[in-house]
Amino acid sequence: VSLLPGLHPPEQRGGTALVIDVLRATTTATTFLERGADAVMFAPSIEAAHALRASLGTGTLLAGERGGLRIDGFDLGNSPLDAAAREWGGHTLVMNTTNGTDAAHTAVQAAQHVLLACLRNAPAAAARAQALAQGGDITVVCAGTDGQVSLDDCYTAGVVVRELLGPAGETDFMLNDSAQMVLALTARWPGPQAALQASAHGQRLLGMGDIDLAFADLALDVTFCAELGVSDCVPELRGREAEGLVFR
Ligand code: MLT
Repeated sequence: VSLLPGLHPPEQRGGTALVIDVLRATTTATTFLERGADAVMFAPSIEAAHALRASLGTGTLLAGERGGLRIDGFDLGNSPLDAAAREWGGHTLVMNTTNGTDAAHTAVQAAQHVLLACLRNAPAAAARAQALAQGGDITVVCAGTDGQVSLDDCYTAGVVVRELLGPAGETDFMLNDSAQMVLALTARWPGPQAALQASAHGQRLLGMGDIDLAFADLALDVTFCAELGVSDCVPELRGREAEGLVFR
């Protein structure tokens, strides 16, 4: 486990990475694909997102946030509930967010296979990583918040590690110290909802729900992000289009 994107252990380069930004980028990306989007593309910047839309043309929508709210000129924010509200067939969603999309761009520099994980797809994401890794290294990469380690991502990483270990908790894996730490975190709260609500990012989203009712209620986003194992959709890096990472 890597508690922040830049901490990917050098000895595990070339393996499989599971990138987590549970609140909310990887949950939202998972939900777009689950609801039929042709692809989700992670752009490295707002400018790159606009450039991708210009080159991809009709059917391309921009989604992302700054400070939790929709970016000016973007079609959508970063709400997984908005992503769940309709079907996206015929559309490619180009996303840029404060931390999550950058975390994937960093992970790509080190890993051969890159998957997006969240609580909703944690069991499926762990299973897919194991299938891809074929006994090789798996790194769970936490996006964190503005360069700080975040409880919400670390808790989710612990859940993913638990899934990788399987029901008996037995493993052929060598767990690094970070993996043992996040695993211990999963026993600290009665469940994902309590853990996400205890995190600083969860607290911020819960508070913002009241600020601007024009946006989806962000408190409901937290509840949605905390649902464990309800999705079999695992976004997987399929290539690049200009500067964008293409997940399907
Ligand atoms: C991020 O990338 O920092 C997050 O997804 C922020 C959020 O929208 O909650």
